[in-house]
Amino acid sequence: MVSNPSLHKRVGVIGLGMHVPKKVLTNHDLAKIVDTNDEWIMTRTGIKERRIAEPGTTTSDLAYEAAREALHQAHLNPKDLDLLIIATTTPDMLFPSAACLVQRRLGAKSATCFDLSAACSGSIFAMITAQQYLMTGRYRNALVVGAEVISSFIDWTDRSTCVLFGDGAGACVMAPVERGGILATDMGCDGQAADMLYMPGGGSKHPPSHSSVDQRLHFLKMNGTELFKLAVRRMGESAKRVLEQAGISRQHVECFIPHQANTRIIEAVAKWADLPLEKVYMNLQRYGNTSAASNLIALYEVIQEGRIKRGDHIVMVAFGAGLTWGSILLQW
Ligand code: UT7
Repeated sequence: MVSNPSLHKRVGVIGLGMHVPKKVLTNHDLAKIVDTNDEWIMTRTGIKERRIAEPGTTTSDLAYEAAREALHQAHLNPKDLDLLIIATTTPDMLFPSAACLVQRRLGAKSATCFDLSAACSGSIFAMITAQQYLMTGRYRNALVVGAEVISSFIDWTDRSTCVLFGDGAGACVMAPVERGGILATDMGCDGQAADMLYMPGGGSKHPPSHSSVDQRLHFLKMNGTELFKLAVRRMGESAKRVLEQAGISRQHVECFIPHQANTRIIEAVAKWADLPLEKVYMNLQRYGNTSAASNLIALYEVIQEGRIKRGDHIVMVAFGAGLTWGSILLQW
């Protein structure tokens, strides 16, 4: 469905949802499968436990549950949904898109659907993409979901990566609003660093074969130490840019929602950008790094916990494979 092509100045979030699998995998559980321990994981990452999807549970399953809740909160009938974007690096399959699979389950027959690939920055990229369609009046409403079953692509023999990630989904419904909404956005990419975090197998470069499986190419590979430094700089700069764009000082921001990759990264970003830590939201101790789902799950919890009141300013900032980074300044 296409609305009247009138320009809207403000686009905001009118409903939120989240869903994580029931199964909890603690650091102590991990210590039974790889050579690691709770103390190392806690001090190096801040993660205590993460949620892991049961075999057979897919990204679109998690996305569907989060989407339903967001639509319910927004009082929007799926039949009236115009646009559905799913940010994911772990779709059910290469095609069709996870968005089309979720559309089918929701019965959102009028929605235009596609997936967006920006790794951990996926939710931010997808929200900014939806914002553009809504500002031009091309669509009246949009559902953005960040969802991952990243556990399917983790090498459970590699202690340097398997302790970091978790599965989950966060969702938001977006629409033009009279007051508040998105005040500023920022996105950036650096393909020069594409091989710092990647999954080589399964695409056209290394189609599935006995050899690709033997070489463990279907698992995520990461240069954690280099990414760490880049994450701090890129997220710090991006957060500063949205504040400058909107002419808002950091003192007037009530909540910062960084991508939940590592407590030390988040603390370093806060220090670098001179943000008070008590305003920085963290839930990675409970979920680990849920990639594209991370920022939307955190936004959902911030609102559920009543940390934010109408008119407050929130900065969401993310960083991920690509490399990609981005920020949104949102007035609630
Ligand atoms: O989502 C966005 C993209 N991802 C990120 O932003 C992740 C960014 N990177 C990080 O968060 C951190 O670099 C890690 C948490 C991945 C690693 O922390 P680090 O402080 O950079 O550790 P390291 O990789 O330099 O490893 C230090 C030591 C090594 O041992 P040696 O060589 O010093 O003897 C590792 O082998 O820790 C060892 N190690 C572990 N030990 C126990 C690595 N993983 C583990 C583990 N348990 N799970």
